[in-house]
Amino acid sequence: MKDAATMASPAALASPDAYADAVSTAVRAAAAYYADGATPLGDDEYDALVRAIEAYEREHPQEVLPDSPTGKVAGGAVVGDVPHSVPMLSLDNVFSAEELASWVEGLERRLGRPVAGWCVEPKLDGLAIAARYRAGRLTQVLTRGDGLAGEDITPAADAVLGLPARLGEPLDIELRGEVLLTQEQFDHANAVRTEHGATPFAHPRSGAAGTLRAKDRAYRVELTFFAYGAIGLPDLGHGELLERLAALGANTAASTAAHPQRCATIEEVGQRVDEIAALRAALPFGIDGVVVKADSAADQEQAGSGSRAPRWAVARKLQAQHKVTRLLGVEWNVGRTGIIAPRAVLEPVVIDGVTVTYATLHNPADIERRGLMIGDQVFVYRAGDVIPRVEAPLVDQRTGAEQPIAFPETCPRCGDAIDTTEQRWRCVRGRACQAVASIIYAAGRDQLDVEGLGGTRAVQLVEAGLVADLADLFTLTKEQLLTLERMGDTSADNLLAAIETARTQPLNRVFCALGIRGTGRTMSRRIAAHFGSMAAIRAADAEALAGVDGIGGEKAAVIVTELAGVATLLDRLAALGVGTAVTTPTAPVASADGAEGEAVAGAVAGPLTGESVVVTGAMTGPLAELSRNAVNELIERAGGKASSSVSKRTTLLVAGEKAGSKRAKAEELGIRILTPEEFATLVADHLA
Ligand code: IVH
Repeated sequence: MKDAATMASPAALASPDAYADAVSTAVRAAAAYYADGATPLGDDEYDALVRAIEAYEREHPQEVLPDSPTGKVAGGAVVGDVPHSVPMLSLDNVFSAEELASWVEGLERRLGRPVAGWCVEPKLDGLAIAARYRAGRLTQVLTRGDGLAGEDITPAADAVLGLPARLGEPLDIELRGEVLLTQEQFDHANAVRTEHGATPFAHPRSGAAGTLRAKDRAYRVELTFFAYGAIGLPDLGHGELLERLAALGANTAASTAAHPQRCATIEEVGQRVDEIAALRAALPFGIDGVVVKADSAADQEQAGSGSRAPRWAVARKLQAQHKVTRLLGVEWNVGRTGIIAPRAVLEPVVIDGVTVTYATLHNPADIERRGLMIGDQVFVYRAGDVIPRVEAPLVDQRTGAEQPIAFPETCPRCGDAIDTTEQRWRCVRGRACQAVASIIYAAGRDQLDVEGLGGTRAVQLVEAGLVADLADLFTLTKEQLLTLERMGDTSADNLLAAIETARTQPLNRVFCALGIRGTGRTMSRRIAAHFGSMAAIRAADAEALAGVDGIGGEKAAVIVTELAGVATLLDRLAALGVGTAVTTPTAPVASADGAEGEAVAGAVAGPLTGESVVVTGAMTGPLAELSRNAVNELIERAGGKASSSVSKRTTLLVAGEKAGSKRAKAEELGIRILTPEEFATLVADHLA
């Protein structure tokens, strides 16, 4: 479990002005939170702010402002008009196992004896209500308000599941508990709201708050009640009380995986806290902490309550799963089936211990429904292993500098039209979109370099059903090509000749042409040099791949998975004689007895053996026509290692015209510098 150290830590307030600012920010945030559940501050930030205010007030007791949120229920934000029978209190918070332990110590010191037993239960993330029953019938429902008086929300009771209209016995009691939207209820509520032209709720708690207060809505949104207390029942232990409430017909957390549990020792308490925290992501409703309560009525009575919170219960807070951050942009990615999916790029924000930079935005209609704009402050949700999602913009935080989100007009991958008839946009090519894009990539100058095979031809070949993947290119016949529009005799011959040349491209280029994630030109050259053959690359496991300079464990695993995904393609390419060239691997080769052999460093002997070469500026002379990738390949053919940045390990810089900072750095480090022409002479034997 994460502890206080990883939560937003309160920055100390250094001056009376900073303190006053903090108080007014907290008061505004609390007012917004209790009005409709939305707030410009995430829960962690609010808690941190209040802790900073408390710290300042401890140091400067004479400066405490009257509207300070400390010591007040609901931060002093709201007032209702119906007085509560017994004040509805809040809970004190602890943020780590250590703070929980010292809270227990404090309580036992106050009691003068060990606490008889504990009850540990989820802290439900909704709104507290009091439900009054007369002779077993529900007569009135109140919000917490300021704890002393609340708002009458009786009409909403109808839609609250788990809050019975009649109890199993004709009792005069008051149930206390939390009303929330489960995830399912939240999703349903937003679907219904959108249908009715209303803006979706930012998150389940604001949805619950809005729904409880709503009047005359044209649609029904169901909520869920969980009872955690009662007024008017004889003194029972907390665990027994919950059982009694369930028997009377009220829903309690006992119906969930995070059920309340009685614990004899503080060790057991700690264990159950951790268990409930670990269950959080899988629960069908939100929790923002775990509540630890002294179980026995005698302990509770003796401990008593302060003006804000009972002394016999405490909330071990968990990190917020909703955070506010800025929407920096939207990316459009095309999936395997041609679906064009938007993805939010966010100002990085830590949610539940994980830095979130991207979040899903389901589809264009969803973006429009939420009315999102670039530059908006947005609510982002993340739980457990789920993909973070953007829930809503904070419209009242807009500055006017926000920009509309641009929707793509053509497929971002292949450039063809987009089918927008469904909610999820799709490239008109569907799966073939990927084929066109991957053929264009594979035929590119730095991969197989198939002259005459650009975008238009690739589209034609795929559309005619002649080519579905890279291997099909090598099976094309002249008759087939001649069936294409604007394909004359000469063009067909030229294209076939170019494909024939491509068949003998070296391993690094064939490998690069596969478009495996994380393997561009440089990485493909390294992998090819390291393993020497496609068969050896395919046989490599993640550990072996991680032996290649620049491939970490994570990338290695991705490459292994992606290679497995193109196994059939690789089989076909091999059968067609593509990528079958073999070189001496630079990797240590396992010998027959299983012992690793010596690494053959710089296996290729040549004029650049042992050299680490960087190329910069425009190439001239014999090198003028070569792409940077081709120059790098030349360096490796001549026995050297090509690198893109100058460092202490660099031994040679090839500097053409307009060489800039790399040249300056090489001069500074005293590295040998050659012109492209001098370099061409040095490696003349290896120029193809
Ligand atoms: S006990 C006198 N138990 O958390 C006892 N409260 O941050 C006071 N809450 O106002 C409440 N789950 O709205 C209690 N299992 C639980 C709870 C719970 C959620 C809420 C409640 C309270 C707030 C304090």
